[in-house]
Amino acid sequence: MHTRAPYTRPTVQRLSQGPVNPFRHGASPACSEIDGVTVADLVKQHGSPLFVYSENTLRSLYRNAHRAFTRRYEDVQFAWSYKTNHLNAICRVFHQEGSIAEVVSGFEYEKARHNGIPGNQIIFNGPHKEKADLERAISEGAMIQVDNMDELLVLADMAKGRREALPIALRVHISTGGHVVWSKFGFNGDDGEVQQIIRRIIAIPQLRLIGLHTHIGTFILDPEWYQIATRKLVGLALEAEAMGAGPITYLNLGGGFASMARLHYQYLPPEQVTPAVDRYAEAICDTITGMWPANRPLPRLYLETGRALVDDAGYLIASVVAVKRKSIHDPLQAALVAYGKNSAPLVAHGSQNALVLDAGINLLYTTTWYQPRIFPVKPCLDAPVPTTVYGCLCMNIDVIREEAPLPNLNTGDQVVIHPVGAYNQTQSMQFITYRPAAVLVGQDKRVHLIRKRENLEYVQGMEVLPAHLSGS
Ligand SMILES: Cc1ncc(COP(=O)(O)O)c(C=O)c1O
Repeated sequence: MHTRAPYTRPTVQRLSQGPVNPFRHGASPACSEIDGVTVADLVKQHGSPLFVYSENTLRSLYRNAHRAFTRRYEDVQFAWSYKTNHLNAICRVFHQEGSIAEVVSGFEYEKARHNGIPGNQIIFNGPHKEKADLERAISEGAMIQVDNMDELLVLADMAKGRREALPIALRVHISTGGHVVWSKFGFNGDDGEVQQIIRRIIAIPQLRLIGLHTHIGTFILDPEWYQIATRKLVGLALEAEAMGAGPITYLNLGGGFASMARLHYQYLPPEQVTPAVDRYAEAICDTITGMWPANRPLPRLYLETGRALVDDAGYLIASVVAVKRKSIHDPLQAALVAYGKNSAPLVAHGSQNALVLDAGINLLYTTTWYQPRIFPVKPCLDAPVPTTVYGCLCMNIDVIREEAPLPNLNTGDQVVIHPVGAYNQTQSMQFITYRPAAVLVGQDKRVHLIRKRENLEYVQGMEVLPAHLSGS
């Protein structure tokens, strides 16, 4: 029997030479399943939009990174960075793999304890630690990384009357020459401030400095910056000991390794830009072993790697809810109008495909810095064309991708957005719509609900209505 090919809408594409980038995102192939589970089944069971995490990918990213370090250094301990993704199921996968916890607030501390992590396996970072949280953390033996002088004085006060000095570590910010120094956090490791603080600590008998920490930034694409940071941190550790502090038993190099995300304006694709984790490991481990005195045991090395372990394991499934054409204006003409240099009305000189999805940038906060790939779910016969992908929020800035190469899609079609496993869950905000469910595809391909879709009861749960407004 003769069957008709499915109808596809025709498009007229204005061809313009523009800046030629042979490395721009190529068309994404169809992605009809995640770890062997079809997108159609996931949506049928849990609705759209839907966050999906791959347990297989989480574990293999962890194991690959852990192996890269333990091959080069004996005493390595990973600490899962709760802020990167604090869904309990995700945290527990990393805890099962052997990771302890790194937290930056009382809330995250409680979460880690709830996930069965004892206090003495929690690294407590952050510029603001409530007194009550510090007291609990100290009493449970957590590793406190002091961020500022005020905190140091609070700790000195809390440690009064202890039989043994309270062990602490200092957070240090360091210039590597390449990145913007994250000087909001910790003490300056380049201008003598750290040495001043160390002198203060030595003078406070109830405190004992045992560690140094630095987190140079996030999505660091040049492993050499870690080499420089490590060299400076080891130098500070040895200097601290020479001054009479210590002994320094641990160094913490924070997180910051890049995932396979792609920055806005990144010319080359992630496959060519994101360094293998071995290169970070080599930069850090070889520097410590090369500098540490041979007659002393090497310090323990902590790593708080976040995005590199979870980003590529996270997907967002979304559905097309409307198909549009978007007017394109000449950017020069638009700029002249914006600056009042051109009073003539702005005339569109073309249009391009556009889609509205049922998910907005409130779920994809990281689209501020990165351009995720957008995969069609069904196999496409027609050629991909540049398509603007809008979210569903009533805000003009709700654009998930200005221009993604996509075939003609129709209302009701699904797309898969990837990689979105890092920071989107923790930074997503409830705005206009309910936040979606999240599922974990297990290694046996079973699908586990790990966060329910929000509902009115959940969203209103924290609201209180004054009596004079509560009548009907
Ligand atoms: C102290 C600290 N450790 C670890 C991380 C995790 O960083 P990343 O996700 O870049 O690995 C962060 C993130 O900002 C951080 O501030």
